[in-house]
Amino acid sequence: PTMSVMRIASFGAQGRGRLSLQRTTSFLSSNRVEYRASTTTSERERAKSVAAFYNQPAVEAAAKKRTVRLTPSAILYHGRTDDEATTLKSAQYLQKELPVRIAKRIIAFRDLPFIVGCNPIILGVHELYLRAFNILNSFETIKTREDEVNYSRKLKELLEDHQNVVTNLAAGFRECRRHIQNEELVVRFLDKTLTSRLGIRMLAQHHLSLRESKPNYVGIINVAMKLKEVIERSCQFVSRVAEHKYGRVPQLKLSGHVNAVFPYIELPLDYILPEVLKNAVRATVESHSEFEMMRLPPIHITIASNEIDFIIRISDRGGGIPHHLMDRALEYNFTTANEENSDSTQLEGRVFSDMMEAVNPNPAGGPMHGFGFGLPTSRAYAEYMGGSLEIQAMQGIGTDVYLRLKHINSPSASFRI
Ligand code: ADP
Ligand code: COI
Repeated sequence: PTMSVMRIASFGAQGRGRLSLQRTTSFLSSNRVEYRASTTTSERERAKSVAAFYNQPAVEAAAKKRTVRLTPSAILYHGRTDDEATTLKSAQYLQKELPVRIAKRIIAFRDLPFIVGCNPIILGVHELYLRAFNILNSFETIKTREDEVNYSRKLKELLEDHQNVVTNLAAGFRECRRHIQNEELVVRFLDKTLTSRLGIRMLAQHHLSLRESKPNYVGIINVAMKLKEVIERSCQFVSRVAEHKYGRVPQLKLSGHVNAVFPYIELPLDYILPEVLKNAVRATVESHSEFEMMRLPPIHITIASNEIDFIIRISDRGGGIPHHLMDRALEYNFTTANEENSDSTQLEGRVFSDMMEAVNPNPAGGPMHGFGFGLPTSRAYAEYMGGSLEIQAMQGIGTDVYLRLKHINSPSASFRI
């Protein structure tokens, strides 16, 4: 607690100027403590309200509980009957489960080195999780249909409030990570925070989607997902952004098992594919000057689907990744984006994953690159989903990225959400 008070107090002191009102309001709304709004509050009063805010035995108690992770097939099975009882049960599961998962995240924020935890943007995300914990943990026990409706409404709001968490973590770590010697610690925190968040969001989204009963879907599971369509959606999105940013876009060509249809969850693909595709597009455009008469070489996307997994290879002719940078490409915050794109005034820019997720994506507003979060986040997501993301570069020619993911109905064990 003492540590936390110091942290937030210093946040108050240094954070006020930096965290402009606009960001403050987008982070938090009604349920938050008042210290940030009232800049006239004395430091001591602020520290006091902050102590109350942080010193929550409820968080510690919840964080000690075990999480209950589900397999996609369990979700599929439970979700089959689309009736009130199922929705109620699903909400009751979330009511138990989400506070535990969120509490564990909060503890991880507290365990960050002081210098990182103090960063105003990271603190903002930390607070967002505290607020979510408080809201969900104090929610009345769900017993009736009406309770469930209210709970779901709240959940939907929270998902929206947390829309920019990845971008904010990327921006926060970019500001402060040079002060930390221990790389391993950063990787562990971010891998865990980001994949746990993916799990939480999938569960929440699953519940919300169950209530909508869309044909072909059981919650977030598309029971007959056409992989080609999902990839094409990302291609169109990335092409639009690239067209805006560079004024030219290489062709994106799809081949292999283009007719593959199987049950899967689109959400993680909608995160990963745009990140990998935008790298391929950027490398292709940047390695071929505008004045070359040659057309941009196409990006080849090859699909393979077998009994156990499906593989997407994204192959570009963008010159590859230099030998000495190969290992670094998968590090958080490693980017070869130039200065213009990496100064912190560009916070308005968001990482692709966030953009894809946004209710009204505004591709024109986003950068093609810049935070160095695309690859490490995508790899962490792929591994969370029981798969992998690997990069092979042919220096001087181009890069191949292999995304492998286990089928959720695979005979070998699948992953847990
Ligand atoms: P960002 O796109 O924000 O830089 P990423 O994590 O997606 O972050 O990529 C990190 C770095 O890896 C890029 O800045 C680039 O230098 C390198 N990279 C990634 N993909 C490719 C590719 N297909 N071709 C060449 N370089 C790449
Ligand atoms: C997140 O998106 O960061 C979450 O953890 C969502 C949750 C608060 C519902």
